[in-house]
Amino acid sequence: MSKRIKIFDTTLRDGEQTPGVNLNIQEKLEIARQLEKLGVDVIEAGFAIASPGDFEAVKAVAEKLKDTTVASLCRAIEKDIDRAWEAVKNAVSPRIHTFIATSDIHMQHKLKMSEDEVLERAVAMVKYAKKYCSDIEFSAEDAGRSRPAFLYKIFDAVIAAGATCLNVPDTVGYTTPEEFGGLIKGVMNHVKDIDKVDVSVHCHNDLGMAVANTLVALESGATQIECTINGLGERAGNAAMEEVVMALETRRNYYRFEHGIQTTQIYRTSKLVSSLTGVPVQPNKAVVGANAFAHESGIHQHGVLNEKSTYEIMTPESIGLSHNKMVLGKLSGRHAFEDRLKEMGYTLNRESIQKAFEKFKELADKKKVVLDDDIQALVEERVSQIPETYQLISFQTNSGNKLIATAMVELKREEDTLTEAATGDGPIDAAFNAIERAVGIGLMLENYTIRAVTGGKDALGEVTVKVSNDGEIFMGRGFSTDIIEASIKAYINAINRLMIQKQKPSS
Ligand code: KIV
Ligand code: ZN
Repeated sequence: MSKRIKIFDTTLRDGEQTPGVNLNIQEKLEIARQLEKLGVDVIEAGFAIASPGDFEAVKAVAEKLKDTTVASLCRAIEKDIDRAWEAVKNAVSPRIHTFIATSDIHMQHKLKMSEDEVLERAVAMVKYAKKYCSDIEFSAEDAGRSRPAFLYKIFDAVIAAGATCLNVPDTVGYTTPEEFGGLIKGVMNHVKDIDKVDVSVHCHNDLGMAVANTLVALESGATQIECTINGLGERAGNAAMEEVVMALETRRNYYRFEHGIQTTQIYRTSKLVSSLTGVPVQPNKAVVGANAFAHESGIHQHGVLNEKSTYEIMTPESIGLSHNKMVLGKLSGRHAFEDRLKEMGYTLNRESIQKAFEKFKELADKKKVVLDDDIQALVEERVSQIPETYQLISFQTNSGNKLIATAMVELKREEDTLTEAATGDGPIDAAFNAIERAVGIGLMLENYTIRAVTGGKDALGEVTVKVSNDGEIFMGRGFSTDIIEASIKAYINAINRLMIQKQKPSS
């Protein structure tokens, strides 16, 4: 019989450690709900002690999810564990995830602790956490570079102290599949009572081996895998969940494992995470990249037309992509729109449906056909809406190859109308300069990306900007069929996020 493994998703914690990613509570909740729909077993919702925002987000996720285990990460320190418990205690199934480094490099240079001190701290903190919570995960940070004998010893001791899950992270993505498989086998063979706990793996992708290492760990006895959507995470990221799961699915004849993932939710989850984090998915990314199911060469197209399996080892439908996209247009009524939302899996309240419908009508006026991807963009723009300190009323730009670009913007702040004009290096730069003048804030544009949500000349454009102010990065997104308008909306969206930060009482 196949073994049922657990999927531990850390998109909201390790994934949020991706440089430049900063999700607000609403965005984290939206992703957490989608992860629950996807069927993950455990959601690591954040690092509760890291900031008040992280704490509130973990708490909100813990309180809102219906059946998924919710974990908070914490160092092996009492005050971290107190905070983690405070954040997850109202979850249907709470977990405290505590960690301490076990490699010589980390113990010597980071912790400045001996092996005995690390062991003693790990045991004491697992016992401390156990007073709060029955489900305790213990991670031996940098296990991939730790001495196996010390790992076995510390794992023996934390199991005796009450740990219910042992995590073996390859924190710096250093090990090869053969080595990592050997390490897991060693743990399985040398740790007493290992069969009474879950054995988890957490592989980073510094050498591009995170997915391979995760799969080999399963073959070697691991019962839980830690991963993120789109492979987000520190540095080169973590093992991409969609890749591990689709490898298990597509190669069922080789890997005989059961899991709880509804694979048809994979594509939507990937899109949601990409649009809320502002990290685009590379087109040739396995499973969820835009080209993953595209056939370019004539020979391939011919093959696929005759028999899909010639060049497709999994079907687009298996990850939730539909070939038969229903097309909506300007004559489509509210009923058809609502039906489409339901089919796409959205459950929105009346106000959100109304707002999304109004936007759909505006878009349908500009664009002949409205596709699923357009609707998804409209709805997600709405879901991730934040208080709009500044709103765009109108804009005008003027540019040409022999002209200095100029822009005029008219913004609203409460009852005031702010109008400013500026020049710039092109109409978008001019508009950004005019916005900065109007709001009286100087910003550095760190990153600007634009993509067409769907194909065709009239495609909806999505602009993502990252701006910095006083060393802090703010992300903004805007949609429009006009790319200058989408850019202006994205810039204002980033400023509105900055305003939330500015309006927070300083601690
Ligand atoms: O990479 C790592 O070691 C981690 C642990 C804290 C689990 O993220
Ligand atoms: Zn990690």
